[in-house]
Amino acid sequence: MATIDQVLIQAALKPEEATKGSGVPAIAVDDLHKSFGSQKVLNGISVAVNRGETLAVLGRSGTGKSVLLRLIIGLEEPDSGSILIHGRDIAGLNLDQLCEIRMKMGFLFQHAALYDSLTVEENVGFPLVHHKKEMSKSERADRVKQLLAEVGMEGHLKKMPSDISGGMQKRVGLARALALEPDILLLDEPTAGLDPISSGEINDLVLKLQAEHHTASIVVTHDLHSAKTIADRLALLNEGDVVVQGSFEELQKSDIAFVQEFLGHS
Ligand SMILES: Nc1ncnc2c1ncn2[C@@H]1O[C@H](COP(=O)(O)OP(=O)(O)O)[C@@H](O)[C@H]1O
Ligand SMILES: [Mg+2]
Repeated sequence: MATIDQVLIQAALKPEEATKGSGVPAIAVDDLHKSFGSQKVLNGISVAVNRGETLAVLGRSGTGKSVLLRLIIGLEEPDSGSILIHGRDIAGLNLDQLCEIRMKMGFLFQHAALYDSLTVEENVGFPLVHHKKEMSKSERADRVKQLLAEVGMEGHLKKMPSDISGGMQKRVGLARALALEPDILLLDEPTAGLDPISSGEINDLVLKLQAEHHTASIVVTHDLHSAKTIADRLALLNEGDVVVQGSFEELQKSDIAFVQEFLGHS
């Protein structure tokens, strides 16, 4: 049996391996507070996501959903509270350690899903060029093709982002998010601004990718239908706090007025 020391050393070297199947959530956010100047944005948020699970974070615009993702990625620091990735508090990490953890997170930002000046192929290859320096050009080209095939975009390698539709841009963004085989996937409004058919296609794709890659995923959305389709659990935010968390059916049973109002209007 491994000693505590061995477990800790292993966790320091390969946190996602050490905590796999151990009951430690992939993402655990506890009592997170964040203000910008005098504006309180997050006011004590706690959520946890396990490997293989998708949490949808819902709420009106301006409730701090994107800020929550930025904190989890480590692009902003919380005022108080903790963020544990595979059991490891990201607060005490230096930049190198943070980069190492970030490499195992795939993210799709709300705006600017892609780099405008790069082709589809270059966009998806970008993380590989920067983080997989040992890969040869031909290996990288093969990997990019394989990633684009996963999202049904293998026929658009040489196109610029401006030449493809919003839904296609999100697909390519998803392929790029998967490039480094992440164990955590953070998607910010993947269906925002898309027509219902394209939204449905993105929902189906997120479900397919989740089934294949077993990531711990957080999908931020204000689209209740999308949340219901892709997530195992939903967390509804209001005024910087989680009002309710559970399955869609559990949310429906909630007697909190805000929850009923949100479900009714969506
Ligand atoms: N870097 C920042 N500086 C100042 N205010 C910010 C910053 N980032 C977000 N905010 C503010 O925090 C609030 C929540 O933003 P956001 O997380 O983007 O909301 P949403 O739930 O729509 O994603 C907004 O009022 C926004 O203006
Ligand atoms: Mg947002």
